[in-house]
Amino acid sequence: MEAADTHQPRKKSAERRRADARLRMDELRDLIRHHDYLYYVLDRPEISDAQYDKLMRELRELEEGFPELVTPDSPTQRVGGVPTQLFAPVRHRAPMLSLDNAFSWDELSAWGKRVEKLTGQRADFVCELKIDGVAVALTYEKGRYVRGATRGDGTLGEDVTANIRTIRAVPARLKGKNLPDTLEVRGEVYLPIPQFERLNEKLAEQGQRLFANPRNAAAGSLRQKDPAITASRPLRLWCYGVGYVEGQRFRRHSEVLEYLRQCELPINPATGAMQTLEEVFDFCRRWQEERHQVDYAIDGVVVKVDQIALQEELGATGRAPRWALAFKFPPEERTTICRKIEVHTGRTGKVTPFAVLDPVQVGGVTVGYATLHNEDEIRRRDVREGDTVIVRRAGEVIPDIVGPVLSRRKARTRPWHFPRHCPSCGATLVRPEGQADWRCPNRGKCVSQGLEWLIHFGSTDAMDIPHLGEKTAAELLERGWVSDPGDLYQLAAEQLATLPGFGEKSISNLLEAIASSRDRELWRLLVGLNIRHVGPHVAKVLADAFPSLDALAAAKLDDLATVQGIGSEIARSVYEWFHTSENRRLVAKLKHAGVRVEERARPRRGTGPLAGKTVVLTGGLSALSRDEAERAVEKAGGRVTTSVSSRTDFVVAGENPGTKLDKARSLGVEVINESQLLKRLRRR
Ligand code: IVH
Repeated sequence: MEAADTHQPRKKSAERRRADARLRMDELRDLIRHHDYLYYVLDRPEISDAQYDKLMRELRELEEGFPELVTPDSPTQRVGGVPTQLFAPVRHRAPMLSLDNAFSWDELSAWGKRVEKLTGQRADFVCELKIDGVAVALTYEKGRYVRGATRGDGTLGEDVTANIRTIRAVPARLKGKNLPDTLEVRGEVYLPIPQFERLNEKLAEQGQRLFANPRNAAAGSLRQKDPAITASRPLRLWCYGVGYVEGQRFRRHSEVLEYLRQCELPINPATGAMQTLEEVFDFCRRWQEERHQVDYAIDGVVVKVDQIALQEELGATGRAPRWALAFKFPPEERTTICRKIEVHTGRTGKVTPFAVLDPVQVGGVTVGYATLHNEDEIRRRDVREGDTVIVRRAGEVIPDIVGPVLSRRKARTRPWHFPRHCPSCGATLVRPEGQADWRCPNRGKCVSQGLEWLIHFGSTDAMDIPHLGEKTAAELLERGWVSDPGDLYQLAAEQLATLPGFGEKSISNLLEAIASSRDRELWRLLVGLNIRHVGPHVAKVLADAFPSLDALAAAKLDDLATVQGIGSEIARSVYEWFHTSENRRLVAKLKHAGVRVEERARPRRGTGPLAGKTVVLTGGLSALSRDEAERAVEKAGGRVTTSVSSRTDFVVAGENPGTKLDKARSLGVEVINESQLLKRLRRR
């Protein structure tokens, strides 16, 4: 009895501490959610970053002390949380439709009239910005975020629950009472333009491939296997509708938006209710002018009929609703001054002219350079240094010059002439008969070619060496430690330690990345070798036909040219590459360094869900990148080949499939879509 008595107060205080902690944790979570909402949704922060960090730190510490009190929707759990099966197919409760487009005032007005004619009534409209991002569907059960999915083909999307949870604008819990059992919200995930530019700068530093536009960057960031990477990309969200809801009736689309806003979901403030088509025009016109007043990419205005009864009456075609229309802005053009025309020598020796521009905002991003393609193109457009030029950007990384504004040409400008010497090594350039490009013939010695080659060798399309960025590559070349990619494998930690800014961590990162590239697939090495005309596609065809570098080196010109998919020009280029002594030395060096120069042994037959299956991929996939799909098939025991034959077991057709689909049909080979592939990959 006595003992129990003496223990009682201590036990009680442990319980009380726990109860106090629970209260404080609830309070902190609510506070943090509130400040997330103010910052990420309303863009109206009320506390400093330091104050916010302090709240987060306190919550983290409490959660560490009481791990059993961590809730899945705690702000600390945005990365991590309960794993769902990434990219597993998710069937949308209602199809995620597309939108019909209008490219002119006439088309917009014709749509408005058709709406009136079909319903016999006057419609009100809601105008929203058309966000150029990635469409997603978020499911909330009793106000809790449970699932996030991409649009996929509109019927089946991909599960990206964990990745979407990392987006701070996405509430883990909705605000309000009597929340519906199930609410599926639709919206657009996007990456703000300044963050997109910063991300590309970082990727460029690391020698990785850049994203062409904020939309691709958002899609790429959502499709990460590791939610921590998604979390490091500051994605945002605007919600624009409801796909499914239980127990709620709305009369107007504007009511839907207001309801979602009350739930503290992010609703774009640049949304307007319009009573007439004239007002709709004004809204579109204004935003076409002011599209850069917002810090994210928009490509038009979405006009929606407000009354839900009229929406239901109008219905949808298989593709798009008749009650909504996207008014698309024309591709953007801007004028600026072309200060200089310069040339750059690429990794294959091709010399490309480009314009150095006064920086200008086009298509939402800052542009300082534009490509001028080749000598003939410059002559055709007669672009001169000092000209005012029209720059157009339609989504590509490097924009195009439409032409000079002749009325603004200054008197003293002169036609531009292609230089006769390589800007990097000074070699005399050559332009082979019948070709459009000038080339630097100084392969092996030209610094610019060497640098570009090294960066290319380490890029994600080739040997995928993440820490071999442009700066590092330049240092390695400059110090003479590396003269071709084969030398990378001889680098030592002591050497790297003398490079500026290279600490222990960066040394081991780089050396590990180089070491693990020793075991890449043969096609990746082929791409990295920098053989003219050999990109990932051709490299895969070659690796299919010749399973080792030795076999390729021994191939006769005819052997190469008779491979399906290899034309005579490619065959010659491959043949010549392997018959150049310098290149043979490189192959020997790579072998000596332990780089794998042959196809990996095929997985044993009889293992994995696709054991022994030969698969062909065609068209764009959405849940997986091409590479990921190939690796997944191989891991499942299958083999991916590049051309369809009667030996092909099935063809996976993605978006815009090519002629392989026709071939499969004509041979009676089974054709499946991406979600079916995902299912087969999981079958045991
Ligand atoms: S409504 C049934 N509203 O545009 C209505 N879509 O080209 C379907 N989008 O797939 C969509 N901003 O990803 C709607 N305010 C907005 C939008 C929007 C961007 C995207 C959406 C859709 C695509 C259609």
